[in-house]
Amino acid sequence: MRWGVLKTHNCGDLRVRHVGEEVTLAGWVHRRRDHGGVTFIDLRDRSGVVQIVFHAGVDSDASLTALPGVRNEYVLRVSGEVVERAEETKNPNLGTGDVEVQAATLEVLNEAKTPPFAIVDDVEVDEMLRLQYRYVDLRRPVMQRAIEMRHGTNQYIRNFMTGRGFSEVETPIMVAATPEGARDYLVPSRLRPGAFYALPQSPQQLKQLLMVGGLERYFQIARCFRDEDFRADRQAEFTQLDIEVSFVEEDDILSMLEELFHGLSRALRTDLHVPTPFPRLTYADVMERFGSDKPDLRYDLELSDCSDLVRESGFGVFRGAVEAGGRVRAVVMPGGASLSRKQVDEFTELAKTMGAKGLVSIQFTAPPADATEDDVRSPVLRHIGIETARAIGVRCEAKSGDLVLIAAGPDGVVNTVLDGLRRDIARRLDLADPDVLQFAFITDFPMFEWDADGRRWDALHHPFTAPNAADLPLLDSDPARARARAYDLIASGYELGSGSIRIHQRALQSRVFDLLGIGPEEQEARFGHMLRAFEYGAPPHGGFAVGLDRVVMLLMGVENIREVIAFPKTQSATDPLTGAPSPVTAEQLDELGIRLAVPPS
Ligand code: AMO
Repeated sequence: MRWGVLKTHNCGDLRVRHVGEEVTLAGWVHRRRDHGGVTFIDLRDRSGVVQIVFHAGVDSDASLTALPGVRNEYVLRVSGEVVERAEETKNPNLGTGDVEVQAATLEVLNEAKTPPFAIVDDVEVDEMLRLQYRYVDLRRPVMQRAIEMRHGTNQYIRNFMTGRGFSEVETPIMVAATPEGARDYLVPSRLRPGAFYALPQSPQQLKQLLMVGGLERYFQIARCFRDEDFRADRQAEFTQLDIEVSFVEEDDILSMLEELFHGLSRALRTDLHVPTPFPRLTYADVMERFGSDKPDLRYDLELSDCSDLVRESGFGVFRGAVEAGGRVRAVVMPGGASLSRKQVDEFTELAKTMGAKGLVSIQFTAPPADATEDDVRSPVLRHIGIETARAIGVRCEAKSGDLVLIAAGPDGVVNTVLDGLRRDIARRLDLADPDVLQFAFITDFPMFEWDADGRRWDALHHPFTAPNAADLPLLDSDPARARARAYDLIASGYELGSGSIRIHQRALQSRVFDLLGIGPEEQEARFGHMLRAFEYGAPPHGGFAVGLDRVVMLLMGVENIREVIAFPKTQSATDPLTGAPSPVTAEQLDELGIRLAVPPS
């Protein structure tokens, strides 16, 4: 295939079979070396790098006179013959390493300033600089692979969904506010001063309305916007694979997602092992075993509950936690008995950053069942006594040489702390196999969680999620115990996506809004369109949304979402390249009827 009029071949495609051919290449100077009258230039384009050779005497060759001034990142067009390299100069690490191009003509298509950093995969440079010069950064091969991986992901999804009878529907970007739990980005209306559009946090309501509209099988690769606190796996704007289907139950959706994500990962990362079937675990089960609703299942390190063992303990912290309705739970670090006091203290410091008041450690240098005081090292041994220390070790299935870390307190804090410690231990011991992509579904989430500050119930997923039919009576009697027909897709410690079977009847939707403290007037104002739609023959329906940035992160094996987005925003939602967000002119504000209460920053 011809790649535009300026070149006949891609640099990275040249092989021994091209030897003898006259080729024209175009690309960037990756590296230049001058060796006694011979100049080597590694020319790079999207496909890779090939070595170009300029021989002595070129100064006298009119077509090569530009060579002396050529530097890194100059854009060149070179013509010449492909020749096989001498055996001893072949480079087995390079796809094109058996050949080189003997330059006959050289044209400088553009000059380049010295780039702010090297165009190599493992560049050590401040990320702000990379983002400011993203167009240079994108030339690095790893970035090109990430962008290709995104493209491959989108392409695979579109084929897959189309093959199963889904239609891609674009929903608007300027919408009314949606209640997904984060802050909205607002867009002022010029024609109705004082009124605002919101950018969609997700197309949730619109895709449900498409089901009422009879579309039956919808998908969209949808851009979503959330003004929330950023973490390594979050962006202000991100992309979802958004799905909604009519006349389905949980299993239809989960089975399809399993087929899609198994196929997608195998297609784009043939080297990865992707175990099937994806385990389906209940929320209650994973919270108990791992303290998290997105555990990394590539390793065990399950938590143990020791509350009953310490209820009567002489150690006030343990006894107090249990008496106050909390729990005392533990995680084991295999081999951790050899850690120094200082190293164990690092776990305590980590636990404190996650809300723990402290952390208790017990190191066993003998099998816990028959450990004596000499075999147990713990700052609290005096308080809990050897009997209890032994019982804790046995309960946790600790072995000789292990370290047991124990957290006490309210369930939420203990879960957060032990989940964090479990991840940290796995990282230190290198327990997560990078060649395994371990997906799983989490099911049976609670419908509601109690917001102690606001003194009200919040929807754990979102207010359109259907309650489990068997738990309907609990909506009145004990909302905390009502389970939702909601499910998550997780992989390798990340939440990749969420979905649910939806409410499709007005009465039930109103009842759930009531429970969430949304009164009739507010229901009408914010959700009147949904409630009315349910009165016009809404089919039973359900759906799902997967964060595609996170999917590509996993496929690329990176831990920062910005590495897989062409033009990402920083932690503070700014773009160092274009300067967004930026002040606007007084005229623009006037037109919108907006007066600033604070000066632009
Ligand atoms: P939810 O809010 O769980 O569900 O979002 C679904 C998935 O989107 C991804 N995601 C993000 N990715 C990057 N940056 C963010 N700020 C961000 N926020 C969310 C996550 C998440 O699992 N409408 C429902 C889905 C449904 O019920 O169909 C929804 O949006 O991977």
